Amino acid sequence: MIETDYLVLGSGIAGLSFALHAAEHGKVVIATKRAAEESNTNYAQGGIAAVLDPADTLAAHIQDTLTVGEGICHPDVVELCIKDGPEAVRELMSRYGARFDLAADGKIDLAREGGHSARRVAHAKDTTGHEIERALLEAARQNPNITLLADHMAVDLLQLAKYGGPDACFGAYVLDRATSEVETYVARATVLATGGAGKVYLYTTNPDVASADGVAMAYRAGAAISNMEFIQFHPTCLYHPQAKSFLISEALRGEGGVLKLRSGETFMERYHAMKSLAPRDVVARAIDSELKRTGDDCAFLDMTHLDPAFLVERFPAIHARCMSFGIDMRTMQIPIVPAAHYSCGGVITDDLGRTNVRNLYAVGEVAMTGLHGACRLASNSLLEGCVFGRRAAADVKGIQSLRPSQVAPWYAGAATPSEEAVVITQNWDEVRRLMWNYVGIVRTDKRLERARRRIELIRSEIREYYWNFRVTGDLLELRNLALVAHLIIECARRRKESRGLHFNADYPMKDEKFAKDTILRRGDGPEPA
Ligand code: SIN
Repeated sequence: MIETDYLVLGSGIAGLSFALHAAEHGKVVIATKRAAEESNTNYAQGGIAAVLDPADTLAAHIQDTLTVGEGICHPDVVELCIKDGPEAVRELMSRYGARFDLAADGKIDLAREGGHSARRVAHAKDTTGHEIERALLEAARQNPNITLLADHMAVDLLQLAKYGGPDACFGAYVLDRATSEVETYVARATVLATGGAGKVYLYTTNPDVASADGVAMAYRAGAAISNMEFIQFHPTCLYHPQAKSFLISEALRGEGGVLKLRSGETFMERYHAMKSLAPRDVVARAIDSELKRTGDDCAFLDMTHLDPAFLVERFPAIHARCMSFGIDMRTMQIPIVPAAHYSCGGVITDDLGRTNVRNLYAVGEVAMTGLHGACRLASNSLLEGCVFGRRAAADVKGIQSLRPSQVAPWYAGAATPSEEAVVITQNWDEVRRLMWNYVGIVRTDKRLERARRRIELIRSEIREYYWNFRVTGDLLELRNLALVAHLIIECARRRKESRGLHFNADYPMKDEKFAKDTILRRGDGPEPA
């Protein structure tokens, strides 16, 4: 058994921001399931939104966030997060050495993205997340109070309720992927910073690690989950058979990129006054609808009218990646399709990152703080991770340990290593495909019901497999993925309207009855307790 003050699961911007601040008053262990940099943060291209230009205002950023969030953002959380934004971005630069692009006058160069009424996105060319991850990881590695464990994947949270106590968490069972042993980590506070759920869908901009582990573990431990129906589909993922999950940043449209059909026709003017720079849900649905209407397999982003030298200088990584597939954006249109990108829902937290399970925190994409509402404003997610990581770290100082005197080690039972990897691959593929087809950009009651039935069957097979075989990283991910697919479906079934990222063709309009969060807790609904 390993004891620490704070156990952080995940190593993106939220987990690292928490760890670096919490290390000022305690020992921190960060367990991260693959290489430390392998997080959604590392792949974020566009940037981090904050009011950094004197001509911009906090009120405008707050209003843009509320408008895009379609009536269910929590205004108090929006306000505090956006007010903390400028200081959070400056801290990334001054304290951790993140290098954002500067304009000729030495001030931070700010980009524009969809739904924003001003240029307010700080960026490092088109690899902003990579730069933030580099800076934070470097600082974490140099901090004597932080132990960083790569290839360590949490299996489940340690629950005091299982020892006859109240709903509280005191650590986690963690699989060391190198030894295949499950170790027991006990902590005063446990912080979920496990990121998003993109891998629930067949097509996603997310890296392989995004299997929604935190939401699944929190739900199993009794935490309330909310708004999982609001999955953001990014409108522009590169469409090419060999291009796995490659995002074409919204910043390209911010610099003047125009969406077109194969015929060369523009179409966004028929959907929104902001045309190609409309909020993401609008653009993704417009592309989906145009592809269904025309039978085309992709749409296009046209950058060819812009200065070729500027494009290469501003978007070097995207240019290089496109060139590797023979697409020169200076002279050719970029083929794109929408793909799952971001989960606006997650584990419900208050404005200090606290969940309803004592001593369990959630920060970053895994959390539902109330910032995003029904649709996230571009580049507000890195901001949220940074702001709430810091706030949670301030809150855990002095937290009381809630642990039993004896902690049971992980029981592997009579389980023998599985030889049936094909069962995992088959179920994994099935979950992702059915979520894409039935619970994607456009939903209907019938599709959701079909998805519900199929997921239940898959989950019962996984349960059987889980108890009969020794756990592996793949099995744990599949189990989490299937549970979170179930939570997305259940949230979507409860929202009988269309709002933000949730569009149900049976209820195409907003209904004020549903202007609230969808909330699920284990034992409340059809999920067997
Ligand atoms: C992008 O660069 O388009 C992604 C930014 C975001 O998801 O906020």
